[in-house]
Amino acid sequence: MQSLKGRDFLSLADLSVSELRDLLALAAQLKAGSLRPQCPHQVLGLVFSKASTRTRVSFSVAMYHMGGQVLDLNTGVTQVGRGEPPADTARVLDRYVDVLAIRTYAQSEVEAFARYASIPVINALTDLEHPCQILADLLTVQEAFGGQLEGLTLTYLGDGNNVAHSLLLGCALTGMTIRVATPEQYRPEAAIVEQAKALSPNPDSIVVTTDPEAAVADSHVLYTDVWASMGQEDLAESRIPVFEPYQINSALLAQAHSDAIVLHCLPAHRDEEITHEVMEGAQSRVWDQAENRLHAQKALLAAILGAL
Ligand code: CP
Ligand code: NVA
Repeated sequence: MQSLKGRDFLSLADLSVSELRDLLALAAQLKAGSLRPQCPHQVLGLVFSKASTRTRVSFSVAMYHMGGQVLDLNTGVTQVGRGEPPADTARVLDRYVDVLAIRTYAQSEVEAFARYASIPVINALTDLEHPCQILADLLTVQEAFGGQLEGLTLTYLGDGNNVAHSLLLGCALTGMTIRVATPEQYRPEAAIVEQAKALSPNPDSIVVTTDPEAAVADSHVLYTDVWASMGQEDLAESRIPVFEPYQINSALLAQAHSDAIVLHCLPAHRDEEITHEVMEGAQSRVWDQAENRLHAQKALLAAILGAL
């Protein structure tokens, strides 16, 4: 894990195959309580321009468990919200805190923070990617299938958004097959699909389709996310009929592998992208997945801060 010390984490593709595998193994050890890294007097700054429950709280609790501190730099209470540019804010915060987690719209903004701050910068969600989420997701899949990720198939249904993009990269790095089923006009970005194919040991295991039923056949993991992400709230109503065939419901789940698990990054809109029945059903692992944000991000912070 020494190689991650002092590094930024802006995209899942910032990790090598072995760094990702080691981070997941570390997260599992932290969850089991067999290791207690400490980073006393280190301060994490959370620069969030969008709402967050899981990411904000799990990052904060991870820091507190390790003896560190957290500053909530919500953009509404800093000069960021009044337009102070990332290049200036980054060079100032750099002198106060030890690591920054940033949640915003443009990926270029977290890249600007990373360029101008010498401390590590973590992408806590942008419109392009949500890499911290996928660390927790892969940990959850690993737990459900006895530690082995390679050879498993994950099907993502819905909007080809930030979560879909990071899942494409994460599944590619771990040697999983990923099928992304979306309406035609909501496909993931072609550049990310190409990047995933380049990272995967088998480019044919990266599949983008408009056919939800073909996508779920024999799949080990069904995954969905909201049909309208933060910043797209005014489009939510009009999208419902377009996305309806991609809803995870009992009929679709029945076509997956008999041991399939269901994931959702949350927050969920019940009976839109996922039915209440499936979300509360025996195959749902959404609460373990949410818990795993804590363990995965603690592993990430410990590695980045050199707390191991
Ligand atoms: N899944 C996720 O990132 O949740 P929050 O928006 O609540 O942080
Ligand atoms: N795609 C969603 C994920 C929320 C955690 C969004 O960006 O709003």
